[in-house]
Amino acid sequence: MKVSIVGITGYVGAELARLLGRRPDVELLEVVGRSAAGQPLSKVFPNLGPLNLTVSGELQRQNEADFIFLALPHHASAETAAAILEQSPSTKVIDMSADFRLRDRATYEKWYGAHPAAYLLPEAVYGLPEIYRDKINPQTRLIANPGCYPTCSTLALAPALSSRLGQPIIEPDVIINALSGTSGAGRGLKQNLHYPEMTSSTTAYGLEGHRHLPEIEQTLQDIYGSPVSVSFTPHLVPLSRGMLATCYARLSDSFLSAHTDQAEASRAIREYYREFYANDPFVQVVDESPYTKQVAGSNYCFIYPTVNLAGRRLISVAVVDNLTKGAAGEGIQNMNLLAGLPETTGLDMLGLYP
Ligand SMILES: NC(=O)c1ccc[n+]([C@@H]2O[C@H](COP(=O)([O-])OP(=O)(O)OC[C@H]3O[C@@H](n4cnc5c(N)ncnc54)[C@H](OP(=O)(O)O)[C@@H]3O)[C@@H](O)[C@H]2O)c1
Repeated sequence: MKVSIVGITGYVGAELARLLGRRPDVELLEVVGRSAAGQPLSKVFPNLGPLNLTVSGELQRQNEADFIFLALPHHASAETAAAILEQSPSTKVIDMSADFRLRDRATYEKWYGAHPAAYLLPEAVYGLPEIYRDKINPQTRLIANPGCYPTCSTLALAPALSSRLGQPIIEPDVIINALSGTSGAGRGLKQNLHYPEMTSSTTAYGLEGHRHLPEIEQTLQDIYGSPVSVSFTPHLVPLSRGMLATCYARLSDSFLSAHTDQAEASRAIREYYREFYANDPFVQVVDESPYTKQVAGSNYCFIYPTVNLAGRRLISVAVVDNLTKGAAGEGIQNMNLLAGLPETTGLDMLGLYP
């Protein structure tokens, strides 16, 4: 497969190259980054030096590409996607930005401003394979790859809200406290991300609303079948990569009447989650609360669901690497599905530990 990456000078572009660059079935056709045009990729990201690639200033061979990943900011992504899909009808686009994630144009425009290519919204498929796998197939031309917070939080809550295995086990009112490493904000320099300001410190942000909120609401509504009330508070933590979401919701009366022993109820929740994710190779339901490091550099999402019966709550903790399952790895999982390959192709690496 011939694959191009636009946005190679950013963290997601670099992670895509790291994961794709050694695949025997992938040729990296073009790696595009305006600020490093003509330079060896090794100058931008020395770890990628062994790939022996040179950065292009713009896409020149888009007609030859089977897949083009867009690792660009929103708006720039939609403009590029529209141009590619118009000029190269057989090329598939996997967009890592938020531009095509929200199906409703008005909701998008409330959070991101005017949409540069709203006519493509109906065509885009939200690429969270564990929930929408049946829509991600060789006919799909445009994938809206999920945000990192939405991937982590949605996977932590999906089984409890779904009625696939029986009645939902929680009420449709959830609280998500999520932590992100600073690479989640991209490679650009920002004062609050400088080492002296960030290290040994942490903060909550987006308290009055965060752009990932409508995305989480959209998917949880699809799973539950009607709107779910979501309180989402992101936090910045001094990690270079990694994400952890702790999600809470009130347990349903039927769950509470069926389970009165704390240890049994906690085991039952984990079994329920395991059954829900039985066919999802990248979701592991674990028996202890996970650490972000356990999934670093891997495409796994580890989830520890449990209950606090006295407080009548489900507590579900999930970890992902924001750059891998939270971005590039999930994008490649989608590419595999579009190509009709097993979704684990090229993604079966384990977390880098310790
Ligand atoms: N970081 C994460 O954990 C994460 C997770 C999920 C999704 N995402 C999304 O993935 C996308 C890339 O994120 P990132 O963290 O890699 O960001 P980043 O490190 O800031 O990189 C952004 C890239 O876009 C290029 N760019 C910036 N402005 C542009 C413009 N106006 N037109 C064309 N290219 C432009 C930059 O390169 P040049 O200036 O050299 O062209 C750079 O390569 C974003 O939409 C982000 O929201 C990020």
